[in-house]
Amino acid sequence: MRHLMRPLDFSVEELNALFDLAKDIEFNRAKYAHACDGKILATCFYEPSTRTRLSFESAMLSLGGQVLGFASASSSSAAKGESVSDTIRTVSCFADICAMRHPKEGAPMVAAAKSKIPVINAGDGGHQHPTQTLTDLLTIRSLKGRLDNFTIGFCGDLKFGRTVHSLIHALVRYENINFVFISPDELKVPDYIIDELKEHNIPYEEVISLEEHIGELDLLYMTRVQRERFFNEEDYVRLKDFYILDKKKMEKAKEDMLVLHPLPRVNEISVEIDDDPRAVYFDQVQYGKYVRMALILTLLDIKVD
Ligand code: CP
Repeated sequence: MRHLMRPLDFSVEELNALFDLAKDIEFNRAKYAHACDGKILATCFYEPSTRTRLSFESAMLSLGGQVLGFASASSSSAAKGESVSDTIRTVSCFADICAMRHPKEGAPMVAAAKSKIPVINAGDGGHQHPTQTLTDLLTIRSLKGRLDNFTIGFCGDLKFGRTVHSLIHALVRYENINFVFISPDELKVPDYIIDELKEHNIPYEEVISLEEHIGELDLLYMTRVQRERFFNEEDYVRLKDFYILDKKKMEKAKEDMLVLHPLPRVNEISVEIDDDPRAVYFDQVQYGKYVRMALILTLLDIKVD
């Protein structure tokens, strides 16, 4: 039995196979429509979500399976004090696979240790969000045709943004990636990630101005300032609109630069660029469903001929 806790739980070869499967699903939906007949996915979400939970559920339904779960801690027995370990033992009696989101870093790992079914980390605190990373990698591979040889800018809340941490972690394994980290001083990438880049001799810059650096980028990964992880409202209000990507800034970007965002967005991307062909954040959402379908099949070891 296999779980997914971090992007590096899959080798580069396994990721390639997963992305090939996701592409086959994208173009041959009918072939997979009964692949999970009789199987049940549990979504145990202790934190709010729109994309991750609904894309997991949509993925399982499109594979012919069924879904159950809870969308908030308050609607589960966590509200009565039940531990994650006891919850997953219970869920293991009802479902074949579980996607779990939790505000505490490491909670899905605690669940995996006690689980009788595969557990997928659907986001744990400010730590990791591996299925968003699978989504991001599939989007880049599909739209750029490669996962190497590019300069990627991460902009916004690089301190608390788990999608940022997961994606950097995954990209370290590909050739000739240059990182440009664009954030205010208060929201810089955590030291442990910088240490990892130094250890692998991977080039990176830490800068403040988006306008000055947008022209260097092949990919721009925008992020929301994570209000829910701030210790005080005053700091959040001061930093929340530090970056706003608009038409004027996009004029300085390369013609083939892609703008990604894990969503939800608040103000950091103006709606005026939603129709720019370089804005691919809603394509990302669609890729997220295909890659989660591929992940469910892979973790349940279901092959479709
Ligand atoms: N990208 C992402 O995790 O979105 P949700 O919080 O809506 O699931």
